[in-house]
Amino acid sequence: MSLSHDFDVLVIGSGAAGLSLALMVADHAKVAVLSKNKISSGSTSWAQGGIAAVLDDRDSTEAHIEDTLAAGGGLCDYEAVKFVVDQGKVAINWLIKNGADFTKDHEPDKETSVEGDYHLTKEGGHSFRRVVHSADATGKEVQISLEKQVRAHKNITLFEHHMAVDLVSDKKPRAKKQKCIGAYVLDTKRGKIDAFRAKTTVLATGGGSRAYLYTSNPDGSTGDGIAMAWRLGCRVANMEFNQFHPTCLYHPEARTFLLTEALRGEGAYLRLPNGKRFMDRFDERGELAPRDIVAHAIDHEMKRLGVDCLYLDISHKDDDFIKEHFPTIYKRCLKLGYDLTSDPVPIVPAAHYTCGGVMADLKARTDIKNLYAIGEVAHSGLHGANRMASNSLLECMVFANSASENILKTLKTEKLDTVIKPWDESRVTDSDEEVVVSHNWNELRHFMWDYVGIVRTTRRLQRAARRIDMLAGEIREYYSHFRISPDLLELRNLVTVADLIVHSAMNRTESRGLHYTLDFPETDPDLDGRSTILKPPRSPSGR
Ligand code: FAD
Ligand code: SIN
Repeated sequence: MSLSHDFDVLVIGSGAAGLSLALMVADHAKVAVLSKNKISSGSTSWAQGGIAAVLDDRDSTEAHIEDTLAAGGGLCDYEAVKFVVDQGKVAINWLIKNGADFTKDHEPDKETSVEGDYHLTKEGGHSFRRVVHSADATGKEVQISLEKQVRAHKNITLFEHHMAVDLVSDKKPRAKKQKCIGAYVLDTKRGKIDAFRAKTTVLATGGGSRAYLYTSNPDGSTGDGIAMAWRLGCRVANMEFNQFHPTCLYHPEARTFLLTEALRGEGAYLRLPNGKRFMDRFDERGELAPRDIVAHAIDHEMKRLGVDCLYLDISHKDDDFIKEHFPTIYKRCLKLGYDLTSDPVPIVPAAHYTCGGVMADLKARTDIKNLYAIGEVAHSGLHGANRMASNSLLECMVFANSASENILKTLKTEKLDTVIKPWDESRVTDSDEEVVVSHNWNELRHFMWDYVGIVRTTRRLQRAARRIDMLAGEIREYYSHFRISPDLLELRNLVTVADLIVHSAMNRTESRGLHYTLDFPETDPDLDGRSTILKPPRSPSGR
């Protein structure tokens, strides 16, 4: 039997963005938090390097803003950048207050009880040491501390293994002046679709880097929130800027394992198979150039030399320093046969972060009333054409806060007065061809990697677009005949995300930031400040 639930606030997603928002509103509202898998299964738990914030008196918010704008290649929204950077310290203090323990430079002084200072590391694009971290497992620390608070809060109900299928509005999807009233949600254990009705719905579903064959992201990064918002009628921006992280471990048993940029921040070199460094040929900042430049340089050298990987080498640093600052990476590499203290480690770039997403303003409001988007699912204007390292967790916290303030103001006037019809399953049967779904998953991720990766051409994009059209048709048919499964839902969402990436990339007739195409290799100054904004067609059956 299907169930129906009523809440003040429905939060879809349990990473840094979703959990923070839930905690920020829970003293005044009844909150549901959904996670399609376990609570900790999003990207947040995997974050390594840290969180960027101006904490050192010698640093300045002006410098953090300037670095972010420079990395963003002329497409960041200045107001959004300033808004986020200005709240860096407040965000870190809020996390500390909620139990997060960050690495310190020295222990507190027992006699004077003076707090130790936080150790600040460096990453690409930052002109100053400003990345607060918890050794090399910052995300895990943040996730665990927030989880603890969420589980203890009496006003928050956590629904693990609950996957949002589609958002629901008071009118037909894509109608004018609609208002979001909740979501249909698949309880993946019971196999039933329940209705969650809420005064406010918050998308905090993370990014869509699983559209690519090689990625640093966990399985669930399938862009569900972007696809659901698009289906309902929200605009989506800058999807062509999918970020590739330069250094994922190249190993058949650990293709998603990241080697944090903080390794380069603390002095690691990138090397060719012959041991030579090469980054100075691409950028005067060498290994610490922004990510788009480093990933592109690695891709270029791999293709030039016809090799499968290049190398990251920190073995010249002190052994104890390496083990103390990078304990997780040190142990994982050792298990796989590489000793960071003595060996260069093989690396390749991999899809890492969705810079674009659902358009949201400084209060995280989307185009649809009572629907908010925060964290990686959103396009807030912070990242432009390339996100600077460690700005993402900061963005999660800052927009969770601004959204929560606005939600609490509006809740008083909202009512749960529209009924959500039960999900209709009368016309579908169980599928006897699950292989179609897994085959299409593989096909999509392969051609996205080959045709829509670090280096693009118009022809490759057109080829990808044709394949996406075919897959979309098959999925539509499959979706209307068979009972839905999590895999089918994720595939359906990924195909939408891939389509948005490809069409955004085709619209951009220049190379900029993370979008590099051989057909338009230069940056066009006339396109400075011009984001790619896609608007859903009025008819729900359109793209
Ligand atoms: P996530 O943490 O990805 O959470 C998404 C949540 O949504 C999950 O709970 C998932 O279950 C849920 N969900 C998704 N779809 C549905 C659905 N349909 N129904 C129900 N629930 C759903 N950023 C930094 O700033 N610093 C770093 O050091 C850093 N390191 C990184 C290292 C790695 C390996 C990776 C992958 C990313 C890293 N990033 C880093 C990026 C950063 O971790 C993410 O951008 C950020 O954690 C996103 O948080 P989020 O809350 O938006 O989404
Ligand atoms: C890393 O630790 O290299 C990832 C940092 C980020 O993606 O912001």
